[in-house]
Amino acid sequence: MNASDLLVVENLKKSYKVRDKTGRRMLIKAVDGVSLAVLRGETLGLVGESGCGKSTFGRTILRLTEPDSGRIIYDGADITRADMRPYRRRMQIVFQDPYGSLDPRSRVYNIVEEGLRANFPKYSADRLREIVMELLESVGLEASHAYRYPHEFSGGQQQRIGIARAIAVEPEFIVCDEPVSALDVSYQAQIISLLKRLQDTLSLTYLFISHDLSVVRYISDRIGVMYLGKLIELGTSEEVTLYPAHQYTKALLHAVPAADPRAGRAKVYKLTDDIEDLSIPEKGCRYCRLCEKAAPVCFEEEPILREVAPGHSCACHIL
Ligand SMILES: Nc1ncnc2c1ncn2[C@@H]1O[C@H](COP(=O)(O)OP(=O)(O)OP(=O)(O)O)[C@@H](O)[C@H]1O
Ligand SMILES: [Mg+2]
Repeated sequence: MNASDLLVVENLKKSYKVRDKTGRRMLIKAVDGVSLAVLRGETLGLVGESGCGKSTFGRTILRLTEPDSGRIIYDGADITRADMRPYRRRMQIVFQDPYGSLDPRSRVYNIVEEGLRANFPKYSADRLREIVMELLESVGLEASHAYRYPHEFSGGQQQRIGIARAIAVEPEFIVCDEPVSALDVSYQAQIISLLKRLQDTLSLTYLFISHDLSVVRYISDRIGVMYLGKLIELGTSEEVTLYPAHQYTKALLHAVPAADPRAGRAKVYKLTDDIEDLSIPEKGCRYCRLCEKAAPVCFEEEPILREVAPGHSCACHIL
């Protein structure tokens, strides 16, 4: 662990016991041995298709979901099995569905004040009011909004409320789990720039989860790419988007709609091809069935993440 590491995750695993269509028990390896570090003050983007384990990873490092194995080290302390009470304030989450994450029966004021009151019991009612109003202003809401209910707001404004609630308790680290995916495009850029501004003024560290590489590449310092529970590439945003090493990352990049609207979505890559069964192969690389460069070794041995350029790693045999 380096002084610059805020969070270190080692070989984290989390699986879910479910039943398949025929009622048979099966195990979904949602996160299957992910190791990475999040540096203080950075935004680490985490991308990958739906179901690859991004949210499970985000929730598990916050211990909202319990890990099966591996280690989670936060600010030098092993929190894998620790009592999370001292850490809850410091580690927050902003959810994809802003409305669903806000109590519909609470006024905005109470939603934002709740965590403040719990964590700073010495504050007077006047001081709390002052802070809530400052928070609302800092996320672009008006004082008059404080006494309204969540349903009276647009999706973008609801997300601002969720962000105000998260930053109210002065966290250091926020998992942003698809914070703009549910919003109209016109709101997405506003929320992203709000998150960026807050990061600068409050010295926040973000894990920014999204299935959309075009969003992640804009906000992130570094990007990690997940595929079927594994981290398959990690590097600076520039390296990963300009010089992607993994064939899957290349496919994801092609799937990003071109800036030119005339290109349309017709060019979107089919990431999963005709393989309906996206279960994890028994051996070899998880992407071997779809990889046009796959060699015999890819069907036999699982590749491990290794450095391909300074600060840029990839799990692939054929580089
Ligand atoms: N509570 C749960 N019980 C059973 N299976 C689950 C649970 N949560 C997630 N899964 C399964 O684990 C896998 C990873 O899910 P996860 O939500 O972490 O993916 P994701 O990358 O966040 O996807 P999305 O982009 O759709 O949000 C999926 O196959 C999902 O169905
Ligand atoms: Mg998710």
